[in-house]
Amino acid sequence: MRKSRFAARHPAFRQWYGWSIAVGTANLDGMAVISFHPKGIEAMARKALPSASYEAGSLIGAARKGPGSRMDKANARGTYKWDAADYRDSSSQQKKWGRELLSKLGLRGDEYVLDIGCGDGVLTAEIAELVPGGRVVGIDSSPEMIDLARESYPPRDYPNLSWEVMDAMEIRFENAFDVAFSNAALHWVPDQLEVLRGVKRSLKPGGRALFQLGGRGNASNVVRALAELLARGDWGRYFEDLRLPYRFCSPEEYQAWLGEAGLVPVRVELVPKDMVHEGREGLEGWIRTTWLPFTQCVPEERREEFVALLASCYLELYPPDENGMVHVNAVRLEVEAQKT
Ligand SMILES: C[S@@+](CC[C@H](N)C(=O)[O-])C[C@H]1O[C@@H](n2cnc3c(N)ncnc32)[C@H](O)[C@@H]1O
Repeated sequence: MRKSRFAARHPAFRQWYGWSIAVGTANLDGMAVISFHPKGIEAMARKALPSASYEAGSLIGAARKGPGSRMDKANARGTYKWDAADYRDSSSQQKKWGRELLSKLGLRGDEYVLDIGCGDGVLTAEIAELVPGGRVVGIDSSPEMIDLARESYPPRDYPNLSWEVMDAMEIRFENAFDVAFSNAALHWVPDQLEVLRGVKRSLKPGGRALFQLGGRGNASNVVRALAELLARGDWGRYFEDLRLPYRFCSPEEYQAWLGEAGLVPVRVELVPKDMVHEGREGLEGWIRTTWLPFTQCVPEERREEFVALLASCYLELYPPDENGMVHVNAVRLEVEAQKT
């Protein structure tokens, strides 16, 4: 039986090692590919991806090079169906970090602001309150998210706020905004260069961008927990061709894209963060509402069971602290840039 390098390095994997499984990332046209296969993934990956740099055990966070492939873009355009209300009720961490990010904008109150990947619109509405003399537009590729945002923040209560279903790779504004803002969204988008070109077009001269997205190494513990779960049960069959759409980039990559798009980098840095969930329930809520590339591999009737088991694996590997809080090793990429 063939053992993967990952399995050989991790005692937990050795313990559960009933059959050959490998976990790895490959670089395919800038996209992360994580595959699990009971018959030996390395051979399969090499066959499918002859030029890929295959690095077992590095999990998510491997180097991503260029803009994404057509398949990535298809993923970004609606493969994942968001449960908007469930996301709103399970995203306290994203909102907390989003508010911290917002405070860095130091808004005067008359700016025009674009919120990219606005999701449920909670933060977008808060921005609208901060700019009573300005305007805010929230865009998102998910119609479910935009419907919820529109319903929650109608024009009669938020006259300076509007919404559009729009892909971040196809931003259709010109010289319209003082600020482009994005929280917890852009790592979902495969082609950052297209995003940045759209951002540049949409900003007025002198306009600025402030983004926070998952950065290199983000939440690798969750993928480790998934590997653990797949080593135990019959779940592997659902994940034979798992492809993660996330791009957890490095500052160097992002800086280069900013330059290519004609934006001036002001600050591009990785910020390690402790993501804290309230016990098992909080962890399950986060997995259920944001790890859609995992959950949507599994047939609907088994999703609840899958989420509970993945949370159990995570909690075994990374038990809660003495107050019952569950911690995840998040790494965010913060990006500040300007249009001259
Ligand atoms: C984790 S949510 C973040 C929502 C909100 N910004 C927040 O902080 O709560 C990620 C959002 O990114 C959106 N998204 C993913 N890919 C996108 C794309 N290509 N263009 C626009 N939005 C996208 C999703 O639909 C989702 O609403």
